[in-house]
Amino acid sequence: MTALVLDGISHAYFGRTVLDRITLRILPGELVALVGPSGCGKSTLVHIAGGLIEPQRGRLTQGYRRHGMIFQEPRLLPWATARGNISYPLRVAGVDRTTRHDLTRRAADLVSLDRKDLDKYPVELSGGMRQRVAIARALVVEPDFVFFDEPFTSLDVALKRQMQDLVIEAATQSRFAGLFVTHDLAEAVRISDRIVVMDERVRGISGERIVSLERGARDDAAVFAAVQTYLKEDPLFSHIHDTDERRIA
Ligand SMILES: Nc1ncnc2c1ncn2[C@@H]1O[C@H](COP(=O)(O)OP(=O)(O)O)[C@@H](O)[C@H]1O
Ligand SMILES: [Mg+2]
Repeated sequence: MTALVLDGISHAYFGRTVLDRITLRILPGELVALVGPSGCGKSTLVHIAGGLIEPQRGRLTQGYRRHGMIFQEPRLLPWATARGNISYPLRVAGVDRTTRHDLTRRAADLVSLDRKDLDKYPVELSGGMRQRVAIARALVVEPDFVFFDEPFTSLDVALKRQMQDLVIEAATQSRFAGLFVTHDLAEAVRISDRIVVMDERVRGISGERIVSLERGARDDAAVFAAVQTYLKEDPLFSHIHDTDERRIA
């Protein structure tokens, strides 16, 4: 049984190939981080994997029941309260009021939003609170797979850290599998079981590494040491901080 299989996926925009025969398999409960420089096709891959865009070639097999998605911007409905935003997917799915209430409560608890916050509108919430609401909205459907597309990039260091802990905690409790896009290697090491590296020059995945640290043993020192080792000693990571996507034709 596999949670997600990408098999020979290719994609081009206006004739320019971004992804060339990508193959990736994610097991149930496994959190895979996808790292790579800006413009290498990470979001395109997530959108294909989540069924938002159709790949031009290859096959996608979703072995999970339900997924949630968390993007870089919270993408909340401005006219709905935090509670309304979180319960929105349930409303769309026709879930009854009592169940909606219970599930919304549970999702809000997972991300530590209290009753007071739930009655606020997005404009009344800080950036971090809005992203919490977005996470709760993704988790409210009790997904067994979650897609994360650089969800914490715009948050400051301390907040980012809190959010990572929240994801680690939620993943441990709910045992969902996930694909977590980030260009922050420390974030990848903290959160994931396996790091998959994308590279624009191969228009796809250039390699992967299993994160050998135990999930419970990833304190700052261990994470920092792992990142330094990857960056200094492992050629797979030598291009992950390239930023100019036009440099390589
Ligand atoms: N809708 C689109 N139309 C045309 N080009 C696109 C579109 N989306 C992304 N691209 C291009 O495809 C490449 C990969 O983009 P993207 O998947 O967003 O990369 P990443 O998420 O790694 O930064 C980039 O060069 C980007 O400009
Ligand atoms: Mg992106």
